[in-house]
Amino acid sequence: MQDVTRNITGETKIYGIIGNPVHHSMSPEMHNIAFREHGMNSVYIALPTSHISDGVRGLKALGFKGVSITIPYKQDVIPFVDVIDPVAEKIGAINTLVIKKGEDSSEKIVYGYNTDWIGANRALEEKISLQGSRVLVLGAGGSARAIGFGLLEAGAEVILTNRTAEKGRKLAGQLGCSFYRTDELGQIQADVLVNATSVGMVPDTEKTPVPKDLLSGFKVVMDIVYAPLQTRLIKEAQSVGCQTVDGLSMLLYQGAAQFKLWTGREAPLDVMREVLYRNFR
Ligand code: ATR
Repeated sequence: MQDVTRNITGETKIYGIIGNPVHHSMSPEMHNIAFREHGMNSVYIALPTSHISDGVRGLKALGFKGVSITIPYKQDVIPFVDVIDPVAEKIGAINTLVIKKGEDSSEKIVYGYNTDWIGANRALEEKISLQGSRVLVLGAGGSARAIGFGLLEAGAEVILTNRTAEKGRKLAGQLGCSFYRTDELGQIQADVLVNATSVGMVPDTEKTPVPKDLLSGFKVVMDIVYAPLQTRLIKEAQSVGCQTVDGLSMLLYQGAAQFKLWTGREAPLDVMREVLYRNFR
């Protein structure tokens, strides 16, 4: 465990994560090592929060520079943000706040962003160019929504499927993409498969969202599940020759995008990656 306290002074800039619960979050370790790597006098702490409106007011009053927003507040925080990024607005969820003084006044302004889609895109772009690729997204929850809109930003063609067809059709309508029922999976041809459901997560690690015999047509398979890191989907995709992207990659790159928004500097990916993957060895 690193000793972040040795850097704390009266000048220390404070960042954190707001949510409930947050005690299990890997973000404090990831961001603190990044600050330290850059020699920055900044610290990132977990902030379990029971009232989001009071929480945001408190951040402004106490001089926080920025925070991550996690479950259950990614949607609820929107009314308390002064300026929302256009993609975050389309997604309808914010995972990052930047708090700074306005250009013309001393009044603090709260800016809201979503870096989840940036993380997913960057993780996928390591394997394949998304522009013009066909991507099958599994799921219709908050993660599928962020990933779906993000893929459209990158110029990919999105196809959606979801266990509950009604929910899937609704999201597909909002994305302007086609929807297939899960029993139609075998008919779909795509370059990339993204599992944006929780299927395969501990304790149900024997589950997989797509049967192995349907995987070989995909060039790249990404799973947002990172517990376990090697999900059944990832293992089976590897065994039939697909390139794979595990769930920690998205987490790493969404954090890197936050770091850039907060500090204006490129995130030190190697040390951040090391911290994240250490917990899974
Ligand atoms: P998140 O915000 O992480 O996306 P969510 O909003 O609860 O979480 O969405 C979970 C997604 O995983 C949904 O698409 C859900 O499918 P339904 O809409 O049918 O509920 C999907 N999901 C969860 N458990 C599943 C399971 N056992 N089989 C298939 N899909 C599942």
